[in-house]
Amino acid sequence: MADLVLENLTIAYGDVTAVENISLSIPSGEFLTLLGPSGCGKSTTLFAIAGLNDATSGLIRVGDTELFNGQKTYQ
Ligand SMILES: Nc1ncnc2c1ncn2[C@@H]1O[C@H](COP(=O)(O)OP(=O)(O)OP(=O)(O)O)[C@@H](O)[C@H]1O
Ligand SMILES: [Mg+2]
Repeated sequence: MADLVLENLTIAYGDVTAVENISLSIPSGEFLTLLGPSGCGKSTTLFAIAGLNDATSGLIRVGDTELFNGQKTYQ
């Protein structure tokens, strides 16, 4: 497995900003849990990492592979 990196990730549902500028780096082999009150964006973050919803801006990277980069348009 490779490192998972989120950089300044923002995810909006229309006018609702569910996740705002989250950045974290999880080294290969480590576990990380998201803990927070209901509605703080835990599921939204995990859905974006899994590719189940679209992020709005920022970066999701696994190793050298960019899964989402708001600065680029993938065809
Ligand atoms: N499909 C959606 N459309 C619009 N807003 C949404 C949608 N899903 C979640 N939201 C909103 O995004 C924000 C984050 O929700 P999310 O479900 O990611 O929180 P959560 O931390 O997983 O909460 P919980 O602990 O209750 O599971 C909340 O304000 C929620 O109302
Ligand atoms: Mg949830």
